[in-house]
Amino acid sequence: MSGIRPLVAGNWKMNAGDPASALDLALAVAGATAELAGLDRVDVAVCPPFTAIATVAQALSGTRVAVGAQDLHWEPAGAYTGEVSAPMLAGLCRHVIVGHSERRHLFGETDEQVRLKLQAALAAGLCPVLCVGETLDEHDLGRTAEVVGHQLDAALQGLPDEAVLSLDLAYEPVWAIGTGRAATPEHAAEVCRLLHSRLAERFSAGDRVRVLYGGSVSGANAQELMGQEGIDGALVGGASLKARDFAEIVAAAAGAAVPERTL
Ligand code: PGA
Repeated sequence: MSGIRPLVAGNWKMNAGDPASALDLALAVAGATAELAGLDRVDVAVCPPFTAIATVAQALSGTRVAVGAQDLHWEPAGAYTGEVSAPMLAGLCRHVIVGHSERRHLFGETDEQVRLKLQAALAAGLCPVLCVGETLDEHDLGRTAEVVGHQLDAALQGLPDEAVLSLDLAYEPVWAIGTGRAATPEHAAEVCRLLHSRLAERFSAGDRVRVLYGGSVSGANAQELMGQEGIDGALVGGASLKARDFAEIVAAAAGAAVPERTL
């Protein structure tokens, strides 16, 4: 942690999108997190598929669990079949994931599109969670710092100073996503700290931006990861589909958020 209030966000991906399962999972997450000690020290969000956002937002209103989307289009409206825009989401949810590696690698999303999406989200009053991360080849070639630095610079190009406070960053090494092979806490923290420094160099409020870690975060490894200096929470895929596992990760972030553990 870096003394910044952590965020634990669940990315449901293309799961639990039918109204009944989305409702069940949302209520289970609300139930499992509601009784956690220290819940007031951490922000929590779930990001269902578009089809379930309204149902989940309604089920979670009045709870401490916020809602986000997984993607958006950069234009506010128009002839873009199948797309969903920032103004459409703004009335429904608070967060939106931008530049997830599955969007970049499976759907060919470019740095320029990520930048446009980030700007569109901010303009609509949404809080983007910008994802950056290196592939296994890039990692093995020792190019992590260069790759994530480039992704960060490209996405934030032209961003006014104060806007940076509305966004969160997530370091998600591609090789750790959905593989069960999380980055070591040392590697994750080192890259998160590097991103913190880069943000602080470029923006006057850059040192107040949260940098999450994502990639095979689980109940079993959350405590160690969340306890690292520089990691301000988690972006969680697989484990966010099981309310108890997700709650364990939230508890780990809440426990790490204060110097004296009260859990
Ligand atoms: P995972 O996914 O936790 O299943 O590795 C993380 C993500 O894609 O954000």
